[in-house]
Parts: sequence; C-alpha cells; structure tokens
Amino acid sequence: MEELLRRLREATSVFVLTGSGISAESGLPTFRGVNGLWRTHRVEELASPEGFARNPKLVWTWYNERNAAHRQAKPNAGHYALAELEKRVPAFTLATQNVDSLHLRAGTKNLLELHGSLRVARCTKCDARRSLDATGLPVEEIEHECGGLMRPDIVWFGEALPETAWRQAAAAASQADVVLVVGTSAVVYPAAALATHYARNAYVAEINPEETPISDGVDCSLRGTAGETLTTLVERFLASTRHKTLPRDPKHNYGGS
Ligand code: OAD
Repeated sequence: MEELLRRLREATSVFVLTGSGISAESGLPTFRGVNGLWRTHRVEELASPEGFARNPKLVWTWYNERNAAHRQAKPNAGHYALAELEKRVPAFTLATQNVDSLHLRAGTKNLLELHGSLRVARCTKCDARRSLDATGLPVEEIEHECGGLMRPDIVWFGEALPETAWRQAAAAASQADVVLVVGTSAVVYPAAALATHYARNAYVAEINPEETPISDGVDCSLRGTAGETLTTLVERFLASTRHKTLPRDPKHNYGGS
C-alpha cells in the first residue's frame, strides 16, 4: 500500500472502475460469486434484448425486485471512502458497472454509469424516459403509448455502452496517473478494458478479496474487501496529505503577517 499511497499523493488524475463487489458489503449480491445472480438466474432471459422481447413481464418483475433491494440497501464504507477521495485529488472520475445508484447516494460527483441505472425506464421505440420510484415499473404499464415497450435504462448483453459515458471513461482512464479497480471480476468487456488497455500509462491497483484475470498485470493487488481496504487507504492518504499541506499552527509565524 505504501507505493500506492505515494502515487496517490503525486497524482493529478485518478480513475476508478467499480463492479458489483463494492456493493457486496451493502448486502447486494454480485453476479458470478457464490450466490451470484448469474449462478441462479438465466442471463439470456433477464439481461438481453431477446429475453426482454420474449417475456417483458418476467424481466420487469426481476428488475423491480432488484430496484427495491437497491433502494433498501445503503452505501457502505467503500462507497463513502471513494466519495471522500474525490474531494482530495485534483481530477477524479469514477466509472461503475453497477446500476444500483449507491455511488450517487454516497456523494460521488464525477460518476459515469457505464451500464446505465435502474432509476429510469426507457421506451424501445421512441426513447421516452420515465423515472422509477421504489416500486419500479408496474407490469401493466410496460406498453408505451407510442406502441413501444418501456424497458430498464440499462445495458444488456450484446448492447453498446452509452456513448458519452464510454468516451469520457476511456479518456479519463487513459489520462489517469492512478487507476483503482474495485470489486469487479474484470471479465465483461468493454468495461474491463478500462483497467487494462486504457490504463496502460497509469499505476493500477486492484482491490478485491480474490484474484481476477487482470491480477497478474496490475501494479498492486490489495486482497481485501472494498469497505475495509478503501477505508484504510483513504484514511492513510488523508493523514499523509494533511501532514504535508494543512495550514500550520496559527501561533507560529511562517513568514506571513
Ligand atoms: P462479478 O460478479 O463478475 O464480480 C464481482 C467481483 O467482486 C469478484 O471479483 C469478487 O471477488 C469481488 N468481490 C466480492 N465481494 C467483494 C467485496 N466485499 N469487496 C470487493 N470485491 C468483492 O461482478 P462485476 O464484475 O460487477 O453486467 O460484473 C460485471 C458485469 O457483469 C455487471 O455489470 C453485469 C454483469 O453481467 C451487465 O448486466 C451488463
């Protein structure tokens, strides 16, 4: 962690990529771990345009349940630590693959939601958007007045990422001095390329209790949970930058009047 702290202190630009692991300590399941969503649910039925076309009610029932779980969950120490870090570095971008809005609720400002969010439904035909509350979209309201179907405003398998968010994320990862990769298995592309191809000029640190396919290529692997590890990292970062930059004891005159 020492070298990562040194790099963070010197960084003018920090980029963070997160995945479902950062929300595990908020009680939300990941996708591929033990009890992961894709272990018990069929991805092609629930997270593809074809699955939605076949059975929109089933898809909405599932996303409405997830939406309700997201709203009941609270951001954890990892989300808050990243929001704190954002305030202390000159440039900061957080790209998340999560659709749970927990980074937003923790106060992260420069947030790119690469896979969309469950706060909104969108029409498949006219692109009209509708905000969702904790109840989600009632299944009797799936049909939109234009003849299209309201769907979750998220990215499904086989679909492109939102163009602007992707462009901004790729630029931020390419320009970053330090990249943190937190709680993602790094197997879903193109998001995972932000931690590899696009981050090739940065010092890359992975925070994950388990090894991932990118572990061998990163500069630093911190094996621990996001909540604990990010709290320690950001606390130590703040302590060391305070030491370096905070105004001195006003009783001492350091040359000012
Ligand atoms: P995965 O389930 O593939 O990976 C979750 C990662 O989080 C694993 O590497 C775990 O080891 C790690 N993890 C578990 N608990 C953790 C903790 N407390 N702290 C830190 N890390 C922890 O989920 P994602 O990488 O998010 O896409 O999956 C990427 C995409 O695949 C998702 O956005 C979703 C999914 O299909 C779409 O739906 C398009």
